[in-house]
Amino acid sequence: MKLFLDSANLKEIDEAVSWGAIDGVTTNPTLVAKEGREFVPLMKEICERVNGPVSMETVSRDAAGMMEEGRVFAALHQHIVVKCPLTKEGLKATRQLSREGIRVNVTLCFSPNQALLAAKAGAYFVSPFIGRLDDLSQDGLQLIRDMKTIFMNYRFSTQILAASIRHPIHVMEAAKIGADIATMPFSVLEMLVKHPLTDAGLERFLSDWERLPAEAKRWKASSAPTPRSKAGAVHAS
Ligand code: G3P
Repeated sequence: MKLFLDSANLKEIDEAVSWGAIDGVTTNPTLVAKEGREFVPLMKEICERVNGPVSMETVSRDAAGMMEEGRVFAALHQHIVVKCPLTKEGLKATRQLSREGIRVNVTLCFSPNQALLAAKAGAYFVSPFIGRLDDLSQDGLQLIRDMKTIFMNYRFSTQILAASIRHPIHVMEAAKIGADIATMPFSVLEMLVKHPLTDAGLERFLSDWERLPAEAKRWKASSAPTPRSKAGAVHAS
């Protein structure tokens, strides 16, 4: 499963990229507004930092406006994937942009039938918002299960991009179901790294290491290990 960062914050994006952790970025108008910066230059900067798809959301309500924005957005950078909402107008725009070879992420998907329509319109990604369903006491992960079954039954190539992820269990379960991608806030990505046994284990290793006398801890060039032969075997001395 690919992991995307759901953020328009350059610091967070740089940090996640430095871990080798992310395959792409998703943004939405809320995330962009949080940064308080001009939209287009910000999106271009994000594209330069990430070696993968970057979702950029349209802000028109009608298909004509979405298509116009979509064409401009897609021309900004090869990484751009245009985001359209799961409305009738959004489906019209998705169909046309997809026919023009522009990749579309259909967003705000809350039901299997909506997902089916997005796939039929030619969506490249469809984004089920699982956390927002959970907020209403509905099972967000069940939506991903249903979408997976439908897309497999009819061999749709549309990828499932699990979105509105709130915690690590969402990520793990989405991976078990077979979602193609999970996009998450930086806070959740950080939670995936952490484990108290890793921290405790590292503390123990490093405090044991401190007990070694200084001369036994030398590791620089003067005490480099014996060179290996071409076959990789260590020379016996
Ligand atoms: O990018 C869309 C999505 O991930 C939003 O998440 O937490 O606002 O429901 P959230």
